[in-house]
Amino acid sequence: MGNLATFRMNVRSIPCGPDGTANDTVRFVMAFVEIIELHRCREGAGTYVEHGGLGLAVLRPPGSEEIVVLDNACPHAGGNLSGGAVSGHTVTCPWHQWEVDLRTGVCTHSQRASVQRYTAKVDDGMICVNLPG
Ligand code: FES
Repeated sequence: MGNLATFRMNVRSIPCGPDGTANDTVRFVMAFVEIIELHRCREGAGTYVEHGGLGLAVLRPPGSEEIVVLDNACPHAGGNLSGGAVSGHTVTCPWHQWEVDLRTGVCTHSQRASVQRYTAKVDDGMICVNLPG
């Protein structure tokens, strides 16, 4: 699913030295890619999208223009976050009701558990996400 058109590219570096510092870095290209039309994603709900081998949860908080894109797998046991209830700043996993903060991807039950959150934007009616290339 999705058009592979690239809107913007940048390079990120991630510290990966043996002690967690930036002694060594891995550099990879990030790019905004179209993943789904905005009108296909209901406000106050989640939509599952597969792109480039990633399972993504596209979430639209009620009463907000914001688009949030997370890895779809809940960090507790892999539940389907796109099928969860979206309310305020959280999505509630349908399996065991853990909540994930949409602003950070961090679970409210355990600050040590989190999911990857991707930068998203809407461009000409398409939801675009900054994904590793
Ligand atoms: S799998 Fe999500 S709360 Fe258990």
